[in-house]
Amino acid sequence: MRWRPSGLVLALCATSVHGLLRFSCSSLVIDRLDPLVNPGMAPSPHLHQIVGGNGFNVTMDPATDISSVATCTTCTFAEDFSNYWTAVLYFRARNGTFKRVPLLPNVGFEQANGGMTIYYSPEAKGTVTAFKPGFRMLVGNPAARTKAQADQYRQLTYTCLQNAMTRSGETKDLPAKPCPAGIMANLRFPTCWDGKNLDSPDHMSHVAYPSTGTFENNGPCPATHPVQIPQLFYEVIWDTRKFNDKALWAADGSQPFVWSYGDATGYGTHGDYVFGWKGDALQKAMSQNCNINCPALKTQSIAAGNKCSVTQKVKEDTEGWLTELPGGMSVM
Ligand SMILES: *[C@@H]1O[C@H](CO)[C@@H](O)[C@H](O)[C@H]1NC(C)=O
Ligand SMILES: *[C@@H]1O[C@H](CO)[C@@H](O)[C@H](O)[C@H]1NC(C)=O
Repeated sequence: MRWRPSGLVLALCATSVHGLLRFSCSSLVIDRLDPLVNPGMAPSPHLHQIVGGNGFNVTMDPATDISSVATCTTCTFAEDFSNYWTAVLYFRARNGTFKRVPLLPNVGFEQANGGMTIYYSPEAKGTVTAFKPGFRMLVGNPAARTKAQADQYRQLTYTCLQNAMTRSGETKDLPAKPCPAGIMANLRFPTCWDGKNLDSPDHMSHVAYPSTGTFENNGPCPATHPVQIPQLFYEVIWDTRKFNDKALWAADGSQPFVWSYGDATGYGTHGDYVFGWKGDALQKAMSQNCNINCPALKTQSIAAGNKCSVTQKVKEDTEGWLTELPGGMSVM
């Protein structure tokens, strides 16, 4: 059977909100940089996989509109020069060496070179205020190693893919058993903004979750963060298939995947965002009933997105069977 992407979008819309923007962003670079948390630092502590515009750099001055610096993007919406990134997943073999897990394109975006799927959802009952140039945020805590710590972030989960279409059974920790079609990391960002600050020292406190309920069921924003922003959501599929033979796993049968920041629980999952849409393109898309087809936006093919890249700045082996994680991050 062939998957029909438009069918998937309709199905998603029916169960959540209308006007969901869903698109593919191929890999831009895999590099040990983090211009949000560690600006100017090369290398930064742990390895990331980054998608979006080629304005991505060691330092990204919030006063510079990256949509005026970048000349290409890996995303299919050609006016989106934002950068989106997460940590990188590694497989830890029985002999203790680490191998990077490749990224797998999502349903409907099979030609993409790695990367991830990005969603922006407007609120169901009203209008949202799109992000402004200079806006950035992160969600999640790489130091979290318990469910209680992970529960401070409501919607950071994993889906153990039985097939490419599996969208149920989300867990807060990495799946304990082999996942036949890969492991999908789901990162949903907070949806309320203080309306003033484009960033904050922890890159989180200028945004908040609804005071009750969730974005999906129209939970209201708290008085401290009254402005409803789109829900930004990443789906990142790690192609664990070639590591599913349990003979390769540790003798005690524990799950073998480890994040690049040394987390074998999965509770420390986190994502970073630097806004970079051109002009009011995102606001226009949020005000119309857009999905993968959005007449208000300029699009490019996935093949064109695959051609955009930046060169890796921190030269190190990230791809071989490594005796330690890049940067020597210890697993704890
Ligand atoms: C990154 O920053 C350096 C130093 O400011 C600059 O020379 C270079 O052109 C920038 N690269 C990109 C891709 O913007
Ligand atoms: C460790 O195990 C992996 C997977 O079985 C193998 O490819 C690699 O060569 C091994 N490395 C060493 C040093 O034994």
